[in-house]
Amino acid sequence: MPAEKTGRGDMAAKKKQGSVKFAEANTELMLAALAHEIKNPLNSIKGAGQYLNDRFGGNPEIKEFVSLIITEIDRLDAYLNEFLNFSRGTKLNLKPVNPAAFINGVIMLVKHGFKCEIETDFTGREHSLPDAMIDPEQMRQVIVNLLTNARDAAGDDARIKISCGKKGKNIFFSVSDNGKGISKALMKHIFTPFYTTKEKGMGIGLSICRAIVAKHGGKIRVKSEPGFGTAFTVLVPAGTKGGKNGA
Ligand SMILES: Nc1ncnc2c1ncn2[C@@H]1O[C@H](COP(=O)(O)OP(=O)(O)O)[C@@H](O)[C@H]1O
Ligand SMILES: [Mg+2]
Repeated sequence: MPAEKTGRGDMAAKKKQGSVKFAEANTELMLAALAHEIKNPLNSIKGAGQYLNDRFGGNPEIKEFVSLIITEIDRLDAYLNEFLNFSRGTKLNLKPVNPAAFINGVIMLVKHGFKCEIETDFTGREHSLPDAMIDPEQMRQVIVNLLTNARDAAGDDARIKISCGKKGKNIFFSVSDNGKGISKALMKHIFTPFYTTKEKGMGIGLSICRAIVAKHGGKIRVKSEPGFGTAFTVLVPAGTKGGKNGA
């Protein structure tokens, strides 16, 4: 009977979904364990490098190579930390958050590390906007990644703008820059893990952004004009009640 068939199909689909989830959780656990395992020897190597620097740092050649070792270890360590932060935060802690207060909070956090100005545009509606249903800590990571990319693309003369507002049932956060832009050919790859065009890039910022936004049931859109700039827009569901909760 068709009904029975559908029932069995549903069960099979659910079972498959369950095993995919289990495999995903297992892979995540394995990767997190691997990241931890890599961090420990890295610290020992860094310690050994610092010892060499203290003992033989008077020799400029040794100093140069040891400082290269330490810089690269710090880079790998930052990379692993970013990954661990991400994999630890797999569960969302959703709250209704006022979009403008949230953006102002993120800017406060990063403004000392950025040489350029970050402008905001809330179209004068910051107090009347509905809340966004977000995990503020994880969404902060998304906005910081987008801001960092904007700064990287536009350099110290960057003009970065963040706007937010309501679009249908969603709240949007948009980060735009006047940087070098993204060509059509490049656009296909930017969300691929480990894809980077930067000499010291890690290529995981946008994949992390996409994963976090997807967990929120949201979307990321990109518009870019090579030579003029780029805008990344994150869309997330609006909460039911309005408020001024900046979290
Ligand atoms: N605002 C932007 N302007 C121009 N290119 C960008 C921008 N954001 C991302 N990209 C491109 O996407 C690539 C991947 O970005 P990301 O995943 O954050 O890794 P990373 O910043 O380490 O390179 C970048 O190397 C860059 O080529
Ligand atoms: Mg990046």
